[in-house]
Parts: sequence; C-alpha cells; structure tokens
Amino acid sequence: MRKTIVSAIASDKSPAPLLKSQALSKNFKGLQALKNHNLELYPGEILGIIGPNGSGKSTLFNVITGFSPPSSGTVVFDGTVITGWRPDRIVGKGIARTFQGSRLFKALTAAENVEAAAQRHDRPGLLSTLTHLGGYARRQAAIRGRAHALLELLGLARWSNRRAGDLPYGAQRRLEIARAMATGPKLLMLDEPAAGLNTHETKELMGLIRGLRDGFGVAVIVVEHDMDLIGNLCERVQVLAQGELICEGTFDVVQQDARVRGAYLGHD
Ligand SMILES: Nc1ncnc2c1ncn2[C@@H]1O[C@H](COP(=O)(O)OP(=O)(O)O)[C@@H](O)[C@H]1O
Ligand SMILES: [Mg+2]
Repeated sequence: MRKTIVSAIASDKSPAPLLKSQALSKNFKGLQALKNHNLELYPGEILGIIGPNGSGKSTLFNVITGFSPPSSGTVVFDGTVITGWRPDRIVGKGIARTFQGSRLFKALTAAENVEAAAQRHDRPGLLSTLTHLGGYARRQAAIRGRAHALLELLGLARWSNRRAGDLPYGAQRRLEIARAMATGPKLLMLDEPAAGLNTHETKELMGLIRGLRDGFGVAVIVVEHDMDLIGNLCERVQVLAQGELICEGTFDVVQQDARVRGAYLGHD
C-alpha cells in the first residue's frame, strides 16, 4: 500500500482513498455486530474480507452500502461523506454490490435484469459517447448495448433471453455481478460470490472478477470463504472476528497470524 501511495504521489495523481470508513460500529439490541471498523481502499484495488460465520462481514457491507445505517462512524466515498445515505443514492454515487442470497428478478430474462439496473442508474456520462446525441431511443439502445456487453463479458450471452430463474446456478451468480456492473460502479462489493460454485466455476469467477477490475478499473471488495479465491485474487485481506478487525495484510501474512488461526478454531 505504501508503494501505491508513493507512486501515486510521484505520478502526481491523487493518493486519496476511494473508500475510507472510520470507526464504523453497528449494534443490534445488545449485540455489537461490528466494532470500530476502519478501512481504506484505493482505486482499482482488490480487497478480501474473511472471518468465521457471524463475524460481521455482511453487516459491514450493509453499513457501507446504506442497507443498514451504522450506529456510529463515518463512510467517505470518492471524497464525499455518504454515511446515512439511502442505498439507491449510494449506487448512484458509484458503489454496487451483490448479496449473499440471490436478488434477481427471476421471472425476467437475464438481459432484462441487467437492462433494468442500467436503466435505473442511467445518468449523464455513464453512457459515454452516445449520450450527448440525446433522444430516448438512442439512450435505450445504449442501455441495451451496455447490458449486452456485460452479459457477453460474464459468459452469459447465450442465456440473454432466458428467464433468470431458469439459468443454471453458476450463471445466476454471474448475472448478479453483471447487474451490479450495469450501474457503472467505481467500487464493486461481492458478498460470497463463489458460494455453491464448484472448483472449476470458482476459478472461472476469479478470472472474471480480475477482468472487471482490469477492464473497468473498478475497485473490488470480496467477502469469501474460499481461500483459493482470496489468496489468488486479493492484494490485501482483512480478517474479522466477532465484529472486530483482528488482522490486515497480504493473504500470506494473515494466514500465518496466530489471532487469525485462533479465530477459526472451532469454526467452519
Ligand atoms: N438484522 C439483524 N438483527 C440482529 N442481528 C443481526 C442482524 N444482522 C446480523 N446480525 C447478527 O450480527 C452478527 C454478524 O452477522 P453477519 O454480518 O451476517 O456475519 P457474517 O456475514 O460475517 O457471517 C451475527 O451474530 C448476526 O446474527
Ligand atoms: Mg455474511
């Protein structure tokens, strides 16, 4: 990270983090699901978050993305304090997420799912060159084009006109990512994207996520139990236990850490 900052200064780019959360806490009636959590994420970085079940990973996602306001603490994204904003407004600002459980519109086609997301967050600049030409039909064509490109990129082109609910499980999971990307995010947050996938599908997913970062410059935060995915994909890893950040560093460093090993004993 130090190297990133130094080279950013050297190249005269802003070293400002894309996402900075400070002292984030979330209480549920006597249970502190998240305690004093801090995070800095830089543009284009891939951060992994691991921890036993119930350690607060999804709560952290909910707090950052506005689904569950923090009990205390601050979230700054792209230079703006977004704490307390509603989910839709946060998506508009550039954070897209997927959920641990599917939230697809199962009766709509794969293409309609992606188009609906693109439509909802269509804004000047998002559709690049076509937008300035104006006109409803052109915008719709641009949205369909963007959706199709994402379906293609995520290996879903052949399923475009099938009902989302009829897609194989692995394809449904990729469709959730395509839908998140359709909103044009600067940060993509994935909550257990490999859950239920086999080894081959997980490997494929790893490549797709890296491709999204390389192709779109999107930063990624990924929560996963699959340690192959975390180890191969993430430049940095945070470990949560009982709502607390207990370790942060490269995967090699955190997997050697005694506190991390302790946290996993008796779990999973
Ligand atoms: N809406 C809620 N109401 C009450 N307790 C919750 C709620 N959401 C999460 N929790 C509790 O907070 C803790 C952290 O949960 P979660 O963030 O889902 O963990 P993880 O994603 O790491 O498995 C758990 O003990 C869970 O039961
Ligand atoms: Mg979870």
